[in-house]
Amino acid sequence: LRGGNLREALLVWYGAHRRDLPWRRTRDPYAVWVSEIMLQQTRVETVVPYFDRFMQRFPSAAALAEASEDEVLESWSGLGYYRRARMLHAGVREVVERYGGEVPRDPDARRALPGIGRYTAGAIGSIAFDREEPIVDGNVARVLSRVHAIEAPLGSPASERALWDHAGHIVRGPRPGDLNQALMELGATICTPSAPRCDICPIAHTCRAQIDRRQHELPIAKPRRAPKHVKMAAVVALRQGRALLVKSSSELFRGLYGPPSAEGHGIEAAERALADHAIRARIDRKVATVEHVLTHRRLEVEVWRATHARGRNDTPASHGISKLARKILAAADH
Ligand code: ADE
Repeated sequence: LRGGNLREALLVWYGAHRRDLPWRRTRDPYAVWVSEIMLQQTRVETVVPYFDRFMQRFPSAAALAEASEDEVLESWSGLGYYRRARMLHAGVREVVERYGGEVPRDPDARRALPGIGRYTAGAIGSIAFDREEPIVDGNVARVLSRVHAIEAPLGSPASERALWDHAGHIVRGPRPGDLNQALMELGATICTPSAPRCDICPIAHTCRAQIDRRQHELPIAKPRRAPKHVKMAAVVALRQGRALLVKSSSELFRGLYGPPSAEGHGIEAAERALADHAIRARIDRKVATVEHVLTHRRLEVEVWRATHARGRNDTPASHGISKLARKILAAADH
């Protein structure tokens, strides 16, 4: 079947089955930008309440640009991948400074902004500006790999080239934003990784993998590196019953607040965690070991308790706390 039929079938299906999501009720490029950054690496159901609260607190690019990083990270607290939030903040500040708060229509200008890559630029361009700009995310990659029986492993240069090529072709025509979202929606709800519903798929008749009964073989997975195992020690240092929190400078949690921590296990690592932040306290004992899994890392964190803490507790009124910090504090409570 021809590309035109594939396109038409996707749009008709999307019109009937699209989920009603808060960012689909607007064409505001700033709102689309916020939603797309939140949706990277995070499930739709998780994002919805965060998106609603974020848009209430920072309703415009100007409002976000004026906010402090602590306020932004507070609103992001619990969503993870905090670098996304810092980059969004930097990108929006640049839009306010250079473009008077209007997200640029020109794709090259959009791509040049901090935190905006090919995917985000295409999502904003197609959804907010109705431009024929392609997108490839994990869902789209799976759909197109099956439709076109792409044999190269996901993430390989050959697969990337083929996927962006096909995405560039299919987006051309009316309603490019809906077309891109239809591809994502199909990947999220029908063309799922391990149990694709080819029986109810609107494009099964056009899908090379389904015709050849290879939908469970494709796409070929990316060779995965084993997550790096990292040992850490965190100290819940109490002063008048309250734990001292410090601002993290680590790559993963920069800008967020949590109990002081250091790499390594044992009391020596716990002492180093305190010393690094000029905190004096009496280390009592190790109370737990918690595990925290991130995309490329598995953290094994010893939780130490300390009392008689002295040192700065410099948390501002607004501050973000990571899920890991919440786990550490909860573990020390028992
Ligand atoms: N994932 C990424 N972008 C999305 C969107 N606009 N709608 C639903 N899921 C998405």
